[in-house]
Amino acid sequence: MIDQAATDFEAVHGARPSGVWAAPGRVNLIGEHTDYNDGFVLPIALPHATRVTARRREDRRIRLYSAQGDGTITDLALDGLAPGVVASWAAYPAGVFWALAEAGHAIGGADLLVDSDVPTGAGLSSSAALECATAAALNDLYELGLSAPEIALLAQRAENAFVGVPCGVMDQMASACCTDGAALFLDTRTLEQRHVPLDLEAAGFRLLVIDTRVKHDLGDGAYASLRAGCERAAELLGLAALRDLPAGSLAAALERLPAELAPLVRHVVTENQRVAETIKHLDGGRIAELGPVLTAGHASLRDDYRVSCPETDLAVEAAVAAGALGARMTGGGFGGSVIALVAAGDVAPVSDAVRAAFRSAGYAEPVLFTAVPSPGARRLA
Ligand code: GLA
Repeated sequence: MIDQAATDFEAVHGARPSGVWAAPGRVNLIGEHTDYNDGFVLPIALPHATRVTARRREDRRIRLYSAQGDGTITDLALDGLAPGVVASWAAYPAGVFWALAEAGHAIGGADLLVDSDVPTGAGLSSSAALECATAAALNDLYELGLSAPEIALLAQRAENAFVGVPCGVMDQMASACCTDGAALFLDTRTLEQRHVPLDLEAAGFRLLVIDTRVKHDLGDGAYASLRAGCERAAELLGLAALRDLPAGSLAAALERLPAELAPLVRHVVTENQRVAETIKHLDGGRIAELGPVLTAGHASLRDDYRVSCPETDLAVEAAVAAGALGARMTGGGFGGSVIALVAAGDVAPVSDAVRAAFRSAGYAEPVLFTAVPSPGARRLA
């Protein structure tokens, strides 16, 4: 695979690359729409990753090629980068160059070949994978000495300010910092993190990912307006962020809020509690107990936060009805993917039930796979 990447790189860029880097997509176990409220998240990295094969250029040009693209090279001047200047997929890697330069890092140009098996628009963080793989490559090529969390923050800056998506920090932290065999428990305020061992297979379980193939797009304004709603609610409550609202004060707080903001606040506060509950179960080795927590998280996203859609709701219902211990949509919502916690022997019947339910509803055939916690951004060669 790595030899092939070098051969492909040479065919596109006419020189040998200096190395190959990879960064994964993710699914979030629990802790949805909490990251921009300074709350808690618990993602795992997927085996699916974006690979960036790269070499430095000394002329401050950036030449970007995607194996999934239209066969052309996007050729940009590092010094001409500014938000809004680059469209399409190239904005993600270009944004990383821009964010590094903006932060004062001494970088130059580079040739990149990007190749990815992270499904796009599936809520599995293909954008963060592309950003973090690019940042990991530049970190080594220009010997910047950045830590994994620093890479994540620069990648988030690229997405927020250059691409223009007001995402939180979860996806980039997951892609940069996750490790094999563990979920990443992250406090998004302090950025304190803990790798929580998660060996589902040894415990006799599988994590089934169901990509509904309803394309989600965080750039379409709905995400931004939810985020703004949470910030407004925190302001009305006199809090720095909704993370600061203790569960014991929730009922009183809801009475003080306008009707459209109250359910958002209820979701965020109860979701942070569900993260804490999940961690307790994981630390106690009680994986089966996660099931009801996941399903309760889905109900909250569906009824209070209102970011599910008929396809994700159906995937959850069909999976649980067929014996999954629990299921929920994962990621930003408005489509995308669902995760289901399933006993190892039930993967086939649960998968079949979800496919059958989609067929009878007249929905597109979903894509299903099982996920194991995989490593974060790294150099492959
Ligand atoms: C998207 C964003 C994340 C996070 C999730 C919802 O994936 O990129 O920052 O807000 O939605 O939990």
